[in-house]
Amino acid sequence: MESRIKAIVVSVSDTRNEKNDHSGERLLQLLRDSGAEVLEKQLVTDDFESLRQTLYSLTETEANLVLTTGGTGFSPRDNTPEATLAVIDREAPGISEALRIESSKHTKFAMLSRGVAGIRNGTLLINLPGSLKGVDECFDVISPILEHAVELLGGPVSHE
Ligand code: MTE
Repeated sequence: MESRIKAIVVSVSDTRNEKNDHSGERLLQLLRDSGAEVLEKQLVTDDFESLRQTLYSLTETEANLVLTTGGTGFSPRDNTPEATLAVIDREAPGISEALRIESSKHTKFAMLSRGVAGIRNGTLLINLPGSLKGVDECFDVISPILEHAVELLGGPVSHE
């Protein structure tokens, strides 16, 4: 069956560029391999206001899924959770809880990701960590629920 997922990947980093954005490229590939349509990938700095504006504008597009990678940690420039919270109307804490719980089975540093997830205007936003390993491990956690999640965003569905 054709995927309903129309995704946008946002790589958040002061140091990555188009040539070394390995995590963003991996996320894009993982989405495509899972059958999702990937509309675009953006690379933005950790600056709060430009990140907030970017995420807001992406929730005005036809995308129903925005996955970010990076900027969820403890450093002063890690603004991704705050920018995401400034955009979403409703939190989806179960997703970020599951990411931390499952990630803790791989690394104790999972506790250091402050990533959040939530919804605005029919778009689900999910923060993933910035490392390649973090992207792989976290995508494994969310990939089984993404199709149903975006289906629910579109309105009532049968759960039979
Ligand atoms: N989660 C998973 N699954 N795998 C990882 O390697 N790295 C952790 C954590 N979450 C990691 C992870 C580390 S070391 C940090 S500092 C935080 O994510 C925040 O990473 P970020 O600032 O790149 O978003």
